[in-house]
Amino acid sequence: MTDRFDLSGKVALVTGASSGLGKRFATVLAASGAQVVLAARRAERLEELAASIAAEGGEALAVACDVTDRKSVAAAFEAAEARFGTVRLLVNNAGIAPGGAAIDMPEDAWRSVISTNLDAAFSVAQEAAQRMAKAGGGGAIVNLASILGFTVIKGVAPYAASKAAIVHLTRALALEWARYDIRVNAIAPGWIETEINADFLSGAAGDAIRKANPMRRFGEPADLDGALLLLSSEAGRYITGTTIAVDGGQSLSGS
Ligand SMILES: NC(=O)c1ccc[n+]([C@@H]2O[C@H](COP(=O)([O-])OP(=O)(O)OC[C@H]3O[C@@H](n4cnc5c(N)ncnc54)[C@H](OP(=O)(O)O)[C@@H]3O)[C@@H](O)[C@H]2O)c1
Repeated sequence: MTDRFDLSGKVALVTGASSGLGKRFATVLAASGAQVVLAARRAERLEELAASIAAEGGEALAVACDVTDRKSVAAAFEAAEARFGTVRLLVNNAGIAPGGAAIDMPEDAWRSVISTNLDAAFSVAQEAAQRMAKAGGGGAIVNLASILGFTVIKGVAPYAASKAAIVHLTRALALEWARYDIRVNAIAPGWIETEINADFLSGAAGDAIRKANPMRRFGEPADLDGALLLLSSEAGRYITGTTIAVDGGQSLSGS
């Protein structure tokens, strides 16, 4: 059975691989046999990760990329193809989550979240799908939603809206791209401490969230390994259009 989760010979591209969940995703995919392209803006961090993957016997390429710039995205895929061949697995993970009350949120604050979390998620997925379709042979896309795409808290209106949109975009793209043998799914993590939320989770709000979790803890990046490998591999070959919540039950009661 474990062979069905093996990714040997597959080329993966992970956006937002310079920290947090993306770093973990890239490490896990490389350990499962994929050749991994690491994409984000902070190139030195990517180089460090590529070196640590290589030290473990894996293969990785660091590519500086701003997902909000389509030319930069296309260049990252070009670099990936030149080094390893067609990207067959995209982990569409880059995201931002600045907080702020909706009542007086400046338009550019709204736009920057939607631009990174939704517009760019679409254009990176489209870039990947166009190249997979052209090459033939299909592939898989794993988007990053959030439990804030199902439930809401105060102070993150554009983030929650962007993640709800990712859940539905995942369905829409899955429906259209099945004909190219491209599966499109999403993972909706619960609360996992990374740079995106460290300040928030270390305060009183974080304590309340942890206590409200049925498992009484935040998640860890490694808690997403199973969902990632299922959606990425042959083991998940009939799964498309779905979003898997990995949240210790946090979203069950709406808190
Ligand atoms: N942690 C959680 O609790 C949680 C829960 C639900 C969903 N998520 C989602 O999981 C994903 C990863 O979040 P994380 O927790 O790992 O946060 P993180 O540690 O802050 O990582 C975010 C990543 O996104 C990259 N990024 C942001 N803007 C970018 C841009 N314009 N171009 C390229 N890369 C960009 C950052 O890289 P650079 O700054 O180097 O570009 C960084 O690597 C996000 O989509 C987030 O919404 C996280």
